[in-house]
Amino acid sequence: MNCDIGIDLGTANTLVHVAGKGILINEPTVVAVDRKNDDRVAYIGSEAKKMLGRTPGEMVAIRSMKDGVIADFRLVEALLQNFIKRVQKYPQFLVKPRVVVGVPSGITEVEKRAVIDAVRQSGAREVHLVAEPMAAAVGMGIPVEDPSGNMIIDIGGGTSEIAVIALYGIVCDASVRVGGDEMDDAIINYLRRTYNLLVGESTAEQIKFQIGSAFPLEDELEMEVKGRDLTAGIPRTMKISSVEIREALNEPVTQIVDSVKQALEITPPELSADILDKGIIMTGGSSQLRGLDERLRHETNLPVNVIDDPLICVCKGSAKILEDIDKYRKVLMASWN
Ligand SMILES: Nc1ncnc2c1ncn2[C@@H]1O[C@H](COP(=O)(O)OP(=O)(O)OP(=O)(O)O)[C@@H](O)[C@H]1O
Ligand SMILES: [Mg+2]
Repeated sequence: MNCDIGIDLGTANTLVHVAGKGILINEPTVVAVDRKNDDRVAYIGSEAKKMLGRTPGEMVAIRSMKDGVIADFRLVEALLQNFIKRVQKYPQFLVKPRVVVGVPSGITEVEKRAVIDAVRQSGAREVHLVAEPMAAAVGMGIPVEDPSGNMIIDIGGGTSEIAVIALYGIVCDASVRVGGDEMDDAIINYLRRTYNLLVGESTAEQIKFQIGSAFPLEDELEMEVKGRDLTAGIPRTMKISSVEIREALNEPVTQIVDSVKQALEITPPELSADILDKGIIMTGGSSQLRGLDERLRHETNLPVNVIDDPLICVCKGSAKILEDIDKYRKVLMASWN
């Protein structure tokens, strides 16, 4: 019986795929703890995310990953164990599962250990780690075994990782700790600076979804934003335009574009030629920011494609690696079995 679990442990979202069943869990990487009760873990995932920024005094919602790395070991452990336990209610799990986890490529040895230990403690019989851009490439169906290079850009919540992949390896990579979270922060700061209007993280993310962009739009957008007026101290509604939000997002977006250029600069010429032909492939939730592909095209003169399901391809890749672990052993970062 097959009981393989593929996981994408992301800064914003964690996904769990079970062989033969598909993606069973797709929830925010958030844990709520009870301050009154020795910081006991009270809620995990979607339940906990609802509490971000609106928790009563003693209940605190915490994002257990920050900037693509583990911010709080104990909470990541609790989250992984909870998710793995939840999918193990299926009868196929009479056998202990094999697990592949997609982790940020910049993860330290200590952090690798921590992820492996957390998964082991939830009863896995084998645990393997794979770098997210590699998992994303496999998930998209890119032949990572080919000598011909592919450039993958994974723009997530906490990090943007750029990798050139060929012959089962990451030939060169660049990564910046800038992603969707920094975009949200940039919107919060802009509204506070410009209008003395205070909004929370969730509102900032909504603004980004609705009117955020990285390149001028054919029809610029507008939206009503609710927040708290910092001078008067009372709730206020304001009309904000996509032109303003683009200006607000310019700094994080430019940082991402710059690191793509850096990666292109250090790419060996043979592989550059491949990328010139095939273009750059973008994935990760934040690759969906309006006009980001256009902005990259404009600045690199390369073809840029956003894949169809950018939020799930790391998880799909982890699952695919398990299906054919012998073929993909070479792409693994660390293993325990
Ligand atoms: N349509 C959209 N426009 C802009 N941003 C989006 C859109 N959809 C999702 N996002 C952003 O994508 C991010 C989440 O993406 P994803 O799930 O790929 O990140 P992650 O894998 O958890 O993070 P990381 O890879 O950095 O560890 C969030 O910041 C979210 O706001
Ligand atoms: Mg990711």
